[in-house]
Amino acid sequence: MNGHIVLLPGDGIGPEVTTAACAVLHAVEARFGHTFHTAPHLIGGAALRATQVPLPDETLQAATAADAVFLGAVGDPAFDQAPPGKRPESALLAIRKALGLYANLRPARVWSGLEASGPLKPSVLAGTDLMVVRELTGGLYYGEPRGLAADGQSAHNTLRYSVDEITRIARVAFDLARRRRGRLVSVDKANVLEVSQLWRRTVQQLATEYPEVVLTHEYVDSAAMKLALAPSTIDVLLTENLFGDILSDEAGAVCGSLGLLPSASLGAKVGLFEPVHGSAPTIAGRDIANPIGAMASMAMLLEHSFGLASEAAAITQAIDDTLSAGLRTADIADPGTTPAATSQFTAAVTAALSRA
Ligand code: NAD
Ligand code: IPM
Ligand code: MN
Repeated sequence: MNGHIVLLPGDGIGPEVTTAACAVLHAVEARFGHTFHTAPHLIGGAALRATQVPLPDETLQAATAADAVFLGAVGDPAFDQAPPGKRPESALLAIRKALGLYANLRPARVWSGLEASGPLKPSVLAGTDLMVVRELTGGLYYGEPRGLAADGQSAHNTLRYSVDEITRIARVAFDLARRRRGRLVSVDKANVLEVSQLWRRTVQQLATEYPEVVLTHEYVDSAAMKLALAPSTIDVLLTENLFGDILSDEAGAVCGSLGLLPSASLGAKVGLFEPVHGSAPTIAGRDIANPIGAMASMAMLLEHSFGLASEAAAITQAIDDTLSAGLRTADIADPGTTPAATSQFTAAVTAALSRA
């Protein structure tokens, strides 16, 4: 297998976790005899500092021409007061839209040995293995009109979804549920929002094509509660852009740390793979970030963009082995134990991959 991967390390801990994910990629190349060409490009605050724009044309062109894109994180407090188009985050929204990445898959599961390291009782967390399917190119994030009034005294955003947008993301969720445990919960706010009423009706209509999937609907407030109270009862959770953003961070906390969660953004030709977490500026540059979300995102890249399911499984197994051996980064370490550095944890995972 030969492949071209564009790397977008970005800001904060983005470069550190990208380095970790690439180390894992190289271990996979060595073990399975593949060659991946990786090319780093600028995005976010790093791009703003170098070129004054958050998503340079050159970066978007390289991403469009690649087989897959791996992203670390964007976000830099230095640009927090900048206008929307001059913020690092706008690059992420623009590249998702430009690449047509409407389907964001965010799996969350309990990793072996981490049953007791999160906020939940181990008995509540046990068996948790869920998939958030987040619509990624619509809703409030992109709706027009939007803006701040000239007098600065009001602001508005637009929530809009079409039947076609709802149907295509719901299809992704139904297809996943069919291959998993056959349960799909669609999350909305249909007791208040017209958009949610259309969402619910459209998802319900599509259900006739998937008789083997048990579909339920849940209001987002109640879904947030259930995610914390009984995460193991959730199989596939389908929702719109903003609700999915919020619930996926909650899923990270439920599993023990946001640093554990990977994601795949799919839809058109090129997929983009990134950990769910952000640039975590307060821990950046200290070699303490959890690289698991990034490594697992690289596994999703191999599986979805190159069809390398065994290679992806090998990465997951190596992470599991490393956790089973007792290594923990600071975010998931038990009190009183010495945490492993990012680089130390990464070396252990690549060693586990090479040993096998
Ligand atoms: P964040 O995800 O960066 O951090 C939230 C909390 O989780 C912090 O306490 C952080 O230290 C911790 N954390 C996150 N990733 C971790 C890891 N791998 N290991 C250990 N701990 C980890 O969210 P935030 O603080 O709200 O945002 C920081 C910046 O990141 C903002 O500029 C935001 O816009 C941006 N952001 C970017 C993305 C992305 O690139 N996909 C996602 C979320 C936030
Ligand atoms: C995420 C992030 C982004 C989002 C931000 C940085 C634009 O929070 O990927 O979850 O809201 O989608
Ligand atoms: Mn988010």
